[in-house]
Amino acid sequence: MKPVRKAVIPAAGFGTRLLPVSKTIPKEMLPIIDTPVIQHVIEEAVEAGCEDILVILSRGKESLEDYFDRSFELEEQLKVKGKTEALESILRPTRLAHIHFIRQQEMRGLGDAVLMARQFVGDEPFLLLLGDTIVRSNDGTAVSKLLADTYARNEGPVIAVEPVAREAISRYGIVDGTEVSDQADVYRLKTLVEKPAPEEAPSNLAVCSRYLLTPDIFDLLATAKPGKNGEIQITDALRRLAAQRAMFARRIHGRRYDAGNKLEFVKTNILFALERPDLRDKLTAFLKELVSTL
Ligand code: G1P
Repeated sequence: MKPVRKAVIPAAGFGTRLLPVSKTIPKEMLPIIDTPVIQHVIEEAVEAGCEDILVILSRGKESLEDYFDRSFELEEQLKVKGKTEALESILRPTRLAHIHFIRQQEMRGLGDAVLMARQFVGDEPFLLLLGDTIVRSNDGTAVSKLLADTYARNEGPVIAVEPVAREAISRYGIVDGTEVSDQADVYRLKTLVEKPAPEEAPSNLAVCSRYLLTPDIFDLLATAKPGKNGEIQITDALRRLAAQRAMFARRIHGRRYDAGNKLEFVKTNILFALERPDLRDKLTAFLKELVSTL
C-alpha cells in the first residue's frame, strides 16, 4: 500500500458568504490574527506526512501564490534591520512543502475543482482538505493524521465526520454508516448525501472538510452530473464509490473553525488569540471588561 504523500486543497470558491471582503481577498487568505487560514490547513497536511500539495485556485486568487513564494526584497530589508522573528515568519510558508497551483476555469462545484487534481495525484492516495476550514482534534493530533492512520489500517477511503445539531444538517454532507467493532470512532460507510433536509438525513454525522481519498474517485467525478445547487458535488461521487468498494468515516472529537462563516471567523480569531502568549493576558482582560458591560 502506498503511503499518503500528496494533498489537494480546493480554494476556488467565490466566498459569497463573506462578501464584501471576499470580493478582492480570497477567504482562504483571511487572517487568523496574522496567519492566513490556508497556512494552517497546509501545516496540517504537512504534519500528516504530505510533501506535495496542490492548491486549486480560480481567477483573482493570485495572492495565495504570492504568499507561498519568496519575497527577496522584503527578506533583505528584514535581515538588514535585524528583524529575525519577522524574517522567520515570512520564510516559514515558503518552506513548508512543495506547493503547486492550478486554476479551475469554470466554477462548476467542489467535485469539479477536485477533478483538476487528477494528473497531480496519479495513482497515489491523497488527502483532500477544504482550504477555508481549520479542524483540530481535542488531543492535538492532526485530523489528517487520524485519517491517514484509518486508511493504513483499512485500505479504503476515509471521510472525517462530526455530529451536528439538527438545524445544521442541511448545510453538510451527511453519512450513514455502521460502527467498526474493534476500532473506536470508525464507521463502515453505507452511503452519504449532500445537504439533506433533516427529516431525510440518515444520521447527524456531517462531513467536516477532510477526506482521505484514492484515485478511483476521479472516474466518478469525470462522469458526475450536477447535483445539489446545480454543482458537481464530491459527495455524489463518493456515494457512487461507496457502492463499489469499502469506505470509512472517522468521527472527530474536536473543533472546526470555518472561516467562510462570519460568526465562526470572529470566534476563531478570539480563540486562537487566547492561545497566544503575546496576546492572551491583554485580550482576557479586555474580554472580561467587555462582558461586564453586556
Ligand atoms: C462542502 C461539502 C459538504 C461538507 C462541507 C463541510 O460543502 O460539499 O459535504 O459537509 O463542505 O466540510 P460547502 O460548505 O462547500 O457548501
